[in-house]
Amino acid sequence: SDLIAAGKVAGKRVFIRADLNVPQDDDGKITEDTRIRASLPAIQMALDAGAAVMVTSHLGRPTEGEFKPEDSLAPVAERMAELLGRPVPLKSDWVDAVSVAPGELVLLENCRVNKGEKKCNEELSKKLAALCDIFVNDAFGTAHRAEATTYGIAKYAKIACAGPLLAAEIDAITKALANPRRPLVAIVAGSKVSTKLTILQSLADKVDGLIVGGGIANTFMLAAGLNIGKSLAEPDLVDQAKAVIEAMKARGAEVPIPEDVVTAKTFAAGATASVKAATDVADDDLILDIGPKTAAKLAEKLMAAGTIVWNGPVGVFEFPAFAQGTETIARAVAESLAFSIAGGGDTLAAIAKYGIEKDVGYISTGGGAFLEVLEGKTLPAFEILSKRASTVIL
Ligand code: 3PG
Repeated sequence: SDLIAAGKVAGKRVFIRADLNVPQDDDGKITEDTRIRASLPAIQMALDAGAAVMVTSHLGRPTEGEFKPEDSLAPVAERMAELLGRPVPLKSDWVDAVSVAPGELVLLENCRVNKGEKKCNEELSKKLAALCDIFVNDAFGTAHRAEATTYGIAKYAKIACAGPLLAAEIDAITKALANPRRPLVAIVAGSKVSTKLTILQSLADKVDGLIVGGGIANTFMLAAGLNIGKSLAEPDLVDQAKAVIEAMKARGAEVPIPEDVVTAKTFAAGATASVKAATDVADDDLILDIGPKTAAKLAEKLMAAGTIVWNGPVGVFEFPAFAQGTETIARAVAESLAFSIAGGGDTLAAIAKYGIEKDVGYISTGGGAFLEVLEGKTLPAFEILSKRASTVIL
């Protein structure tokens, strides 16, 4: 908006890096379009200001230099066209030149197919910068990656700035953690401790309650000396889990360990679910959800919280018999008067499933990027913009 107010956008070539990496089903149909919707304000602002607008994103993790039909942003172009009510032409082989007139919008094919994108190749970065007068990074979900379209282009573009989504995301998450209304309760769940260990360690210094779920909770149950049968867990990380519990205890804070669980003998939607005390798990059991007592106690903690940070479902909520825990947590987040902040693909899917979008204070479009901001890390794609003289916001 600073650039628009300064009249610097009209007639200019604006290159917007968005994160349009949306989930698709086996037929390539988009199953969740939050990221596409979230990208529209920047695009619309640039179009309204009379710019020639180029937008790109990655989709998935394609092999560089080998474009396959499933890598195409075509479904995204179609969805974006529906939402904007205007055609969104999709351009391939666009690195050397893009033809686009002021007031027009084009979507540039999956940028991760370009050779050198992931490793932030200098030559590619310079070529990308030469395509535009103004580079706008609005891809919060990819801001933890230093790639050619998120980092390299920002070094060489004549003007480089943050888009409204990138700026709003970083602002919302850092403000919520800088001076939170207490108690501050975090829910960190998901399959692996290893992918979320640093966030668990970093939150252990800040939060009043740390709710763990999924495979992460199983590793914490092991740390508490409980049998978890055949459940998904990382025994190698038990010592780290113990250290998190101890660090929290030392501050008078807690990591509640499930007291009951829902188990099955096989990992399947139709498997028979049994509710058991956490001390009664058999050697051939798989823990697929937290039990009703645990869910009710956690819900109470969430109802009493001042701020809630939520990343990850606490059970296999895709299977109805193992969804109760995640639904109870989702409803408590929604009903609590706490300011809540949620992020991550599975969390967004749970929020959509239980229809609580309007009851969550802030829904982030980031997965890995969301976690890194929570950890207090500076995202490289944002840092490079700050280093440039023109750190204005579109
Ligand atoms: C995400 O979905 O978290 C982002 O789009 C980043 O994707 P990546 O992990 O493939 O870099």
